[in-house]
Amino acid sequence: MTTYNDILTSAKQTLEGVCRVCPVCDGKACRGQIPGVGGKGSGRAFTVCRDFLDGVRIHMDVIHPHFEADTGIGLFGRRFRYPFFAAPIGGMKLNFGGRITEEAYVRAVAEGTRQAGTFAWTGDGPDESIFQTTLPFIREAEGAVIPTIKPWTQEKCLARIREIEAAGAMGFSMDIDSAALINLKLMGKPVFTKSAQELRELVEATDLPFVPKGVMTPAAALRCAEAGCYGIVVSSHGGRVMEDAPAPASQVAAIRKAVGASLKIFVDGGVRTGADVFKCLALGADAVLIGRPYAIAAHGGGAEGVRLLTEKIGAELSETMLMTGCSSLEEITIEHTGT
Ligand SMILES: Cc1cc2nc3c(=O)[nH]c(=O)nc-3n(C[C@H](O)[C@H](O)[C@H](O)COP(=O)(O)O)c2cc1C
Repeated sequence: MTTYNDILTSAKQTLEGVCRVCPVCDGKACRGQIPGVGGKGSGRAFTVCRDFLDGVRIHMDVIHPHFEADTGIGLFGRRFRYPFFAAPIGGMKLNFGGRITEEAYVRAVAEGTRQAGTFAWTGDGPDESIFQTTLPFIREAEGAVIPTIKPWTQEKCLARIREIEAAGAMGFSMDIDSAALINLKLMGKPVFTKSAQELRELVEATDLPFVPKGVMTPAAALRCAEAGCYGIVVSSHGGRVMEDAPAPASQVAAIRKAVGASLKIFVDGGVRTGADVFKCLALGADAVLIGRPYAIAAHGGGAEGVRLLTEKIGAELSETMLMTGCSSLEEITIEHTGT
């Protein structure tokens, strides 16, 4: 029987020279490695993610009737088994040395998460094929994939939205934090920041729920709420787009306070375990995205690696909920954590 540890051993071989598959993926060994798997420049915007989550404590309370925790969540009008999902990761050739194809990657995350009862977000890039690769998998997953498009010109974004609708996706995202990616400009594929008005245009152009990714302040989150977005991803793109961004999880409580229940809040950056997922939810997030560990699992064992990682983190979350007396996700509140 294949175990998650077997997947890591295999990933270490497949990714040799690209990613060290460290015991904890914390951004230290790969500082500045972009293209690659690291954080930008000093790498601090990545390492701070682990530092923050490591500093949050969870209060144990086991005096309660025994239960099997319900880890299920409703999102995009559907029900999923766990509140954490594979984050969009694009550029297998550029970032992972082409050890697997873009198609093999999307297949691994789309099928593996689906087998585990969750879903994957997929990426976009300068090479047209990165986005196009996703479309058949959206159909295969009966829409349970969130494609994430780059902040291209409005015209190109609208064209992408039409393709996403035709593929039957349950929603879509845009990594608006890619606005300054110089490599896209150099490749003749410029990207832009988006005004609140431009976000509204995209919301109004489709019935699909829209979730901008890369929202890091209460003010920006409020602009998304006013534009009619379904949700936001509080994210610093894994520390890859701006030096010295704070840990996204550290911003969630203030953002939740500002927007109330008007937006679904996803958060990512350094989330590695079920306990980390619990902490993010306690801070006010509805759900969580996980990036590099899914890329490692997919390189180590394809869809099976992705399924095993999901089940491992799911079991850790379930155990943490039992140990804190939270029988459902709604019961996970700030009172369950401290520093
Ligand atoms: C190699 C690599 C490629 C990525 N590509 C994309 C992408 O195409 N679109 C996107 O929205 N985010 C992309 N991201 C960011 C992730 O979606 C996510 O925000 C980040 O990896 C979360 O942090 P974590 O890896 O520490 O979990 C990428 C991240 C990495 C490491």
